[in-house]
Amino acid sequence: MLVAYFSQTGNTESMAEAVAEGARSEDADVVVKRIGDVTKADLEAADGIALGSPVHMGDVAVEVRSALVDWAYGKGFWRSRGLENKACAVFATGGAPSNGKEFTMLSMALGLLQYGMVLVTPYGGLGASATTGVPEHEKGVGEHELSEARGLGARLARVALRLRE
Ligand SMILES: Cc1cc2nc3c(=O)[nH]c(=O)nc-3n(C[C@H](O)[C@H](O)[C@H](O)COP(=O)(O)O)c2cc1C
Repeated sequence: MLVAYFSQTGNTESMAEAVAEGARSEDADVVVKRIGDVTKADLEAADGIALGSPVHMGDVAVEVRSALVDWAYGKGFWRSRGLENKACAVFATGGAPSNGKEFTMLSMALGLLQYGMVLVTPYGGLGASATTGVPEHEKGVGEHELSEARGLGARLARVALRLRE
């Protein structure tokens, strides 16, 4: 399993670690990497890929968007179809309760679906997300949000294993 993410202040990184923890709870081997460090070999080796981004100006961070394009054309996965039929999942963090998390997850999901990947969601949602900038709520990533991320990682691992069989 590969968990790839972008993070400037650590919130999305916390979610990435929780996704990884969930996948490991299903006995998956998990590699967690910042988006810029992901190699072609990492992508080839993974049976499942979780992708995470903070919300930047209502949308996915440009670093994640450009990685999705690089995977296609720089790393050649569009032509090779090397990601086809692998499992994928998305997660996001945003400062405000309702200012781009869903859209960010949808944007990443659309990018991954271009590769013929199979999107794994939590029960009743698009991905795992956290609201990080509302002090009276719970600043940073809350335990219930980490728990959702763990659940997503576990489900991703289970589905990836079935798709591989
Ligand atoms: C350039 C920039 C733009 C942002 N735009 C939004 C936004 O549109 N909506 C939102 O909810 N949060 C926005 N935020 C807040 C971040 O999404 C939030 O703090 C997130 O948890 C940061 O994740 P990180 O710690 O992994 O970098 C923005 C932050 C930055 C730095």
